[in-house]
Amino acid sequence: MDPELPRLYTDLAKWWPVMSAPDDYAEEAGFYRKCLVDASRHPVKTVLELGSGGGNNASHMKAHFELTLVDLAPGMLRVSRSLNPECEHIHGDMREVRLGRVFDGVFVHDAVGYMLTEEDLGRAIETAWVHLRPGGTALFCPDDVRETFSPRTRHGGHDRMLRSLRYLEWVWDPDPSDTTVTTDFAYLLRDKDGVRIEYDRHVTGLFRRAIWLKLLTGQGFLVDCRGFEATPPDDGSCEVFVAAKPGR
Ligand SMILES: C[S@@+](CC[C@H](N)C(=O)[O-])C[C@H]1O[C@@H](n2cnc3c(N)ncnc32)[C@H](O)[C@@H]1O
Repeated sequence: MDPELPRLYTDLAKWWPVMSAPDDYAEEAGFYRKCLVDASRHPVKTVLELGSGGGNNASHMKAHFELTLVDLAPGMLRVSRSLNPECEHIHGDMREVRLGRVFDGVFVHDAVGYMLTEEDLGRAIETAWVHLRPGGTALFCPDDVRETFSPRTRHGGHDRMLRSLRYLEWVWDPDPSDTTVTTDFAYLLRDKDGVRIEYDRHVTGLFRRAIWLKLLTGQGFLVDCRGFEATPPDDGSCEVFVAAKPGR
């Protein structure tokens, strides 16, 4: 088990589909697909996703692209493989993985939040750059930038045949002068053995827009900033950095 990863991606990974259901990603996956296609100079056929998790976005995007899905957590790759058996899955760290080939597009969704320092964020950006063909687009979609962050609580969960889950999520910032925030989760897990409660802490990175732009343009990308806001009753929003690699 990777000590850096939260329990949701390690010992509790099989609970991911009842925490976060693939159907809930349809609208945002459509938005990201359009961003990738509209900003690219070539037709987009192959896409690399870094930090693909349980493959929820992928479950929608795979109808349009040939997807290669990279994640650090073996348990999450297992979940994604069962949802997306037709996609290529690779175990790897977005800060250092090198596949030796280029893709028409690169997609980095909320997993980029696990980059806690400028150095790690820069390494993830470099990974996207080296896997992107000239004229292609990389999308980076952090949940927040420093300017949009506010502490919040949220609850949710789903029911499936064998398992049900409800969670309380509490996002707060113990030290506004650093580049991380903390999310504490309480999970209520129900299966044939009854109901139990588990606690999990996720520490995620939070950077000013200017830092994102400095790192992306420093790598060579031409950048456009956009925002995604889910249509109610769905919730969720994120900042989207549409990063084009010059050339053809
Ligand atoms: C919230 S989940 C991603 C869910 C995904 N957006 C989806 O559509 O299902 C975050 C994922 O980031 C992965 N992750 C965290 N740090 C990583 C790293 N350094 N490299 C690759 N994946 C990483 C975790 O293993 C986890 O699966």
